[in-house]
Amino acid sequence: MQTVLVTGSKGQLGNEIQVLAPAYPQFNFIFTDVEELDICKREAVDGFFSENKIDFLINCAAYTAVDKAEDDEEKCYQINKDAVGYLGEASARHGVKMLHVSTDYVFDGKSYIPYTEDAPVSPATVYGRSKAEGEQRLVSVLESAVIVRTSWLYSSFGNNFVKTMLKLGRERKRLQVVYDQVGTPTYAADLADALLQIISAAELVPGIYHFSNEGVCSWYDFTLAIFKSAKIACDVLPIESREYPTKTPRPHYSVLNKQKVKSAYNLRIAHWEDSLNRCVQKLENH
Ligand SMILES: NC(=O)c1ccc[n+]([C@@H]2O[C@H](COP(=O)([O-])OP(=O)(O)OC[C@H]3O[C@@H](n4cnc5c(N)ncnc54)[C@H](OP(=O)(O)O)[C@@H]3O)[C@@H](O)[C@H]2O)c1
Repeated sequence: MQTVLVTGSKGQLGNEIQVLAPAYPQFNFIFTDVEELDICKREAVDGFFSENKIDFLINCAAYTAVDKAEDDEEKCYQINKDAVGYLGEASARHGVKMLHVSTDYVFDGKSYIPYTEDAPVSPATVYGRSKAEGEQRLVSVLESAVIVRTSWLYSSFGNNFVKTMLKLGRERKRLQVVYDQVGTPTYAADLADALLQIISAAELVPGIYHFSNEGVCSWYDFTLAIFKSAKIACDVLPIESREYPTKTPRPHYSVLNKQKVKSAYNLRIAHWEDSLNRCVQKLENH
């Protein structure tokens, strides 16, 4: 049986892989988070790989607090760049096939057509730069690495836009949400399944891939769909980004083109609204 190490497994994506693991009985999973394996500790990473026979590594560990990263650059770079390099080096030394997760924030959002994997990166934030440099570091130490960029991730686990809106929608009569930032939400359960399908494929093709749910929307449309799904009667008003200033700029357009991952691994991807309904249902039943 092949062994899959999942790092950062207490986050949104890591938790979703834990939920799905029983559906992939051909794999033996080892789930770690910072307590069991701090990926910033180079020797500990190599030691862990020596002690455990690992076939695949899925790195879900990351520094994901986009605004906080502006004042916490060193830690953000340690986790999103240096540590990714340590995982890559250890994977190269121990013959491990590594999947790493990255982000639409490697782009500046100035495009108006969906980003393909070879579009030039141009991150506008510390977080985006740390992730872009993490990708480059990984490829430099592990040619066989598979990098999957995703966008607007949410889940029934952790904190995210869907859970925040469900809470606010029940507390308030009216909410203002930006309509000039357009992208595609991604249910972490769907990304988790895609990653497990990728490692189940006969051949792992190295390189960068884009994955999100199908379709396109603004945060305003997303909010309307969340309230519709949860039957919340809250008035939603569309506003422009300049009316809702954030510490860091958010990309105006971050739709990812998913053709490459779909054809390489024969994936069928759900529409964002269908996946949102599944997640809301799961949250409502708990
Ligand atoms: N969230 C999004 O909207 C989004 C969008 C696009 C791409 N992505 C990417 O998707 C991936 C998964 O994101 P996510 O939302 O599932 O992240 P998440 O919920 O923030 O989970 C990351 C996990 O990594 C852990 N971690 C942090 N430092 C670590 C270390 N040194 N060693 C081991 N584990 C460590 C975190 O622990 P603590 O919580 O204790 O720090 C957390 O459990 C990331 O690569 C992220 O960059 C996310």
